[in-house]
Amino acid sequence: MIGNWLDIGPVTQIEPGTARTLPVVGGEEIAVFHTMRNEFFAIVNKCPHKQGPLSQGIVHGDVVTCPLHNWNISLRSGKALGDDEGCVPTIPLKVDAGRIYLLRSAVIGGDDQAEAA
Ligand code: FES
Repeated sequence: MIGNWLDIGPVTQIEPGTARTLPVVGGEEIAVFHTMRNEFFAIVNKCPHKQGPLSQGIVHGDVVTCPLHNWNISLRSGKALGDDEGCVPTIPLKVDAGRIYLLRSAVIGGDDQAEAA
């Protein structure tokens, strides 16, 4: 079962209200968020507006505000909120026994040879 999931480390590596980035060989960088409500989300680290680094945005509830032009992006759906339109891919994530796992096929696009760096 664990084989379908990529272990990216302990939950304690991300302070509540912040994110860390995960470089992906041959793919888009992923931002993994830890919210103040103690939820975890993973999305591609590119704002749907002009590719701002969402990992550097302000997290409030289950939303991140892009650091470049203040679009609000739902961490749950990846969708831009309010009047803005756009969507960033989300990556299925689960927490198990204090560790964070990402769905392997979503990280590496189904290519078994690739690995998260
Ligand atoms: S790049 Fe994110 S709001 Fe413009």
